[in-house]
Amino acid sequence: MDLELGGKAAIVTGAASGIGRAIALVLSREGADLVLADLDAAGCERTLALMRAERADARGVVVRADASRYDDHEATVNAALDEYGGLDIAVNNAGIGGEPKITGELGPEAWRRVIDVNLNGVYYAMHAQLPALLARGGGAIVNIASILGQAGWRTASAYVASKHGVVGLTKTAALEYATRGIRINAVGPGFIETPILGDDPEALAQLAALHPVGRLGQPQEVGDLVAWLSSARASLVTGAYYPVDGGYLAQ
Ligand SMILES: NC(=O)c1ccc[n+]([C@@H]2O[C@H](COP(=O)([O-])OP(=O)(O)OC[C@H]3O[C@@H](n4cnc5c(N)ncnc54)[C@H](O)[C@@H]3O)[C@@H](O)[C@H]2O)c1
Repeated sequence: MDLELGGKAAIVTGAASGIGRAIALVLSREGADLVLADLDAAGCERTLALMRAERADARGVVVRADASRYDDHEATVNAALDEYGGLDIAVNNAGIGGEPKITGELGPEAWRRVIDVNLNGVYYAMHAQLPALLARGGGAIVNIASILGQAGWRTASAYVASKHGVVGLTKTAALEYATRGIRINAVGPGFIETPILGDDPEALAQLAALHPVGRLGQPQEVGDLVAWLSSARASLVTGAYYPVDGGYLAQ
């Protein structure tokens, strides 16, 4: 299926690693021009090098941006306007896991940081992106939530609250912009093999066993869904939450 993303300008936040890097690679493979935003600019440069290794004329620009700062999202959108003359697609993916503590022991500062990055960051991103998408006559936003946007997890109350919040924010904004050409969806990955999960083989095997498919997901498997949702092939899809979780939520 040709997603026809040639010439589309796309922002990916958290593009230096894991799922964000994979999303950037899939979008680039499908022809999109990228703005790669992350706290880790060197990691984004590596993502850009991987894009160019796959497609010599791949286009990308790197912006060092903190997802928890509104101004940094404005700068990221401005990079798309300056470099590509507009914005068509935004994937709000930057996120952190936070401290693994039960709710009564999680300190307010640790709570706030997770909410700032994972939930406030998505609101800031959309607030900066929506005018640019409207100016272009429409587009698509994909927010990266989690299976933990639908279910709880002991020792992750801030993360779970942030991801439930992302799903609600996504649905509400989708309703608001449905007649204005902007589709807004959320994706809920199961446990995906990226640095956010750490590298303890025993812990990773336990997480893998929680999925009916019996394995962890790969970042590319999230990237493929995001690319489809970003494209006109998903023209009737808005306000949706799509799990990509090997059956985790079906249990
Ligand atoms: N890996 C999983 O199992 C999994 C499952 C469900 C959802 N997710 C979500 O997917 C997204 C990507 O996670 P990942 O697994 O690729 O993790 P990762 O740690 O590999 O990548 C996260 C990226 O976000 C960046 N980042 C962190 N804080 C930032 C900030 N304040 N501003 C800008 N960039 C920041 C990091 O530098 C990194 O490049 C996150 O939102 C995460 O919650 C991951």
